[in-house]
Formats: sequence, structure tokens, C-alpha cells
Amino acid sequence: MSTVTTASASREHRITVRSLASRKGRGEPFTMLTTYDFTFARIFDEAGVDVLLVGDSLANVVQGCDTTLPVTLDEMTYHTRMVCRGVRRALVVADMPFGSFQVGPEDALRSAIQLIKEGGANAVKLEGGVDVADSIRRIVSAKIPVMAHVGLTPQSVNEMGGYRVQGRGDEGRHRVIEDALAVEAAGAFAVVLEGIPKELGREITQRLSIPTIGIGAGVHCDAQVLVMHDLLGLNDWTPSFVKQYASLGQQASKAARNYIDEVANRKFPDEEHSYT
Ligand code: KIV
Repeated sequence: MSTVTTASASREHRITVRSLASRKGRGEPFTMLTTYDFTFARIFDEAGVDVLLVGDSLANVVQGCDTTLPVTLDEMTYHTRMVCRGVRRALVVADMPFGSFQVGPEDALRSAIQLIKEGGANAVKLEGGVDVADSIRRIVSAKIPVMAHVGLTPQSVNEMGGYRVQGRGDEGRHRVIEDALAVEAAGAFAVVLEGIPKELGREITQRLSIPTIGIGAGVHCDAQVLVMHDLLGLNDWTPSFVKQYASLGQQASKAARNYIDEVANRKFPDEEHSYT
């Protein structure tokens, strides 16, 4: 009996696409962080981050690639599985990598099924607006929740000619609004707004009934997302919209240098760290 009560109590605390929708209704911002492995999934989940995104930024911060284009669907699935093992409360969203949905809606659905069935994700994310609306519709028709991503879409780096702020000027603004309206109409449960002026972030957030999740899109979005390496200070360089909440890169380097020094001077392992 007590097992049943405990299980249902913990289920109530699990974040769902519905609970995120009601957060928008109540005007309560929520948080999303990218995560790529078990250890950080456990830390962020226990800290109370609402959504863990296995982002295709994995290509940059884990694999060391210049763009997000090379990461594969199988690699995303593998990392999604690790993240899911560390999570009890957060919603896990797996990014659909470049090449896994562009061929068409059936291809997109097959890729989404892999991330849910083999990766264990609760939802998938894909980049694009009007151009991917049919794929979103197809995935949603299979009861898989879809998070959309408009504005600066890193998978379009070659078309954009670099990572440029989007939605400036009348035409740019109109394009991002059309994309956001199209993904909502196609059934997305939330949309990431990346790299757009904050007033456009406000306007889209007001016009949509689904939550907006901003990254470089200002304070008026319903939620915020950061790449974990930026948050923790693990990257050499971060864009200007990023706030660094820790300096783990410096701390890790200092720890490694102390370790090298103590080994060289036979200070480690000392008595306390040796078996007798
Ligand atoms: O892959 C990623 O990290 C993302 C976030 C920037 C939203 O898509």
C-alpha cells in the first residue's frame, strides 16, 4: 500500500508537457538546460531543472566539432539513454540532428521513434518553422510531443552564413513570427526562440498559447535555456547573452595542476589515502 502511495506521489512530481503548459498559464517561468550524460543529468535533475535537453550542441561541446551538423541520430540516441538514467523528475527532450528529419515527414517520424523507443526521451525537438510543419504534424500524430526551434537555427549555419541574430527588420521579424505560428499550428507543445531581439521574444510569447523557451531572446519568454558548458564556465568563449554561473573550467584546471604537483612531490597518496 505504501509503495503505491510513494509511486503515485513521485509520478505527480514528474514534469510533463501538460505541466509546462500550465506553468505558462500561471505566468511561472521554467528552466531548461542541455545535458549529455548521466552524472550531470542527476545533478541538474536533483537541483530542480525542469527540462533536460539532449541538444545537438553535443557536437560542439562534447565531440569538439565546429558546427552541430556532424552528430548522428545513433549518437544522440546513445547520449539520451545516459541522460534518462539520471532523471527522476525532469522532462527529457532529445534533439533531432541534422539529416534525421529533412528528407520528409516519414523519415522524421522514424527518427523521432528511435529517440523515444531506444533513447527513452519524453519528447523530441527539431529546428525549423514553416518548412518543417508537416514533419511536426506527422510526429505529433504518433503521440510524440514535439518542441520546435525557430529564429537562429544552428543547423542552418551554411545558409545563414554564420550564427547571426535573426528577426531584425520588418521582413526578418515577419519570418520568425510566421515560423512560430506555423509550429504552434502544427501541434508543437513548446518552441525555442534563439538569437532574436527581446521585443520580438515578447511579441511571440504574447501571441502563442504554447510556452516559448528563450536563448538569447530576452526576459519575456516563458522559460529560458542555456547550454550547460556555458552555464558552468567550461567553454573558452561564450556569446554575450550567456551568463556564466560557475567557473568549473578554471577549477578543473587548478585541480589537475595540484594533482600533478602532489604526485611529482610524492605528497599523494598520503597515509590518509592509502590502505594499510
Ligand atoms: O542543441 C542545443 O544546445 C540547443 C539549444 C541551444 C536550445 O538546441
